Amino acid sequence: MRILALETSCDETALAVVEEGRRVLFSRVASQTEVHRLFSGVFPEKASRLHLETVWLLWRETREALGGGIPDAVAVTAGPGLPGSLLVGLMAAKTLAFLGEKPLIPVNHLVAHLYAVYLAGVDLLFPALGLVVSGGHTDLFLLSSHREIRRLGGTRDDAAGEAFDKVGRLLGLPYPGGPEIDRLSREGDPRAIPFPRAYLEGTRDFSFSGLKTAVAVYLEKSGDHFRPADVAASFQEAVVDVLVEKTVRTAEELGVGEIVMAGGVAANRRLRERMGEECAARGFRLHVPPPSLCTDNAAMVGARGYFAFREGVQAGLDLEAFPRGTPLF
Ligand code: KG4
Ligand code: ZN
Repeated sequence: MRILALETSCDETALAVVEEGRRVLFSRVASQTEVHRLFSGVFPEKASRLHLETVWLLWRETREALGGGIPDAVAVTAGPGLPGSLLVGLMAAKTLAFLGEKPLIPVNHLVAHLYAVYLAGVDLLFPALGLVVSGGHTDLFLLSSHREIRRLGGTRDDAAGEAFDKVGRLLGLPYPGGPEIDRLSREGDPRAIPFPRAYLEGTRDFSFSGLKTAVAVYLEKSGDHFRPADVAASFQEAVVDVLVEKTVRTAEELGVGEIVMAGGVAANRRLRERMGEECAARGFRLHVPPPSLCTDNAAMVGARGYFAFREGVQAGLDLEAFPRGTPLF
C-alpha cells in the first residue's frame, strides 16, 4: 500500500509517498526557515501563505517523480500545530483524497515523529516509551500498541526546542537556535556554569522556562565577560540531563524495555550521545531516527498513517484541524 502524506503543521511544507509504512519512495521538505529568520521565529500568517504557494508545487513534483495518479490513500497532519498552517495541508489532502476517491487518514504530528523510526528499519516491540522533543513539544508517551497510545506528561511551559531557540536568540545566534547551540557547544565546557535543572519530582512533566531565565540573568550579570561556547554547552547539558534522567526513570518505573526518541531536538548530538549511553548502561533498547528524519517531514506522517489505517483510523472530508488537544491518531 502506497500512502501520499502531507505535513504543514509549522514552517515546513512537506510531501512524501511511503510504501507499507516503511519504504520512502519520494520525500520533499520545503523549509521556510530563511523567511522566518527575518522575524527571529515563526510568523504564523506568513507560514500559512507560504504553505499555500508551495504545497501544489510539491504535489506536481511528486506526480512527475512517481508517475500515475494519487496513491492508495492520503495521510495528513491534523494537529497539533499552527491553525492556519494545518488548514492548508488539510484542504490539499482532502482535495486529493476526494479527486482520487481514496481514503483520508488523519495523523497526530507528535505520534508521527515517533513513527519515523519505522523508516529507519526499526519495528517497535510494544510497550514502548516515546519521548518527543521538538520546537513546540516535550512530551512522554506510552505506546502499548499501534492503537493504544497514552500521553504520560509534558512540558508545563517552554518546550525543549523553544528553550534552545530562545537561548540562541539571547546569544545572538540565528534562528533556529537549536542546531547553532549544538554546533557552538562543541567548543565549550558543559560544566562551566551550573544552570538549574527542574526535575519536577513525582511527575512526568518538564519545565524549561526557569532554565531559560537563568541563562538570561547570567548573561545580564556577565556583561561582555562570558564565553558563548561555555554558555551554550552548559545550557545544553542542563536540558540533556533532565530529558535523559526523566525518560529513563519513567521507563524503569513502568517496566518498559524499549525507548523511542524523536522530534527536532532529537537531532542534537549531545542528547543522542547521552541518551544512548544511559540506555545502554541501564539495559534499554533505544531507537532514534537519523537526524534528517527527526526534524519535520512528511515521510513520518506516511509511516504513522499506514499503521493507523491498518487499525481502522480514517476520516471523512469534514475532518477538522486540531491545533491543540489533538487526538492521538
Ligand atoms: O520537530 P521540529 O522540526 O518542529 C516542530 O515540530 O517543532 O523541531 C524544531 C526544533 C527547533 O526548536 C530547533 O531549534 C530544534 O528542533 N532543533 C535542535 C537541533 N536541530 C533542531 N535542537 C537542538 N539541537 C539540534 N541539533
Ligand atoms: Zn515536529
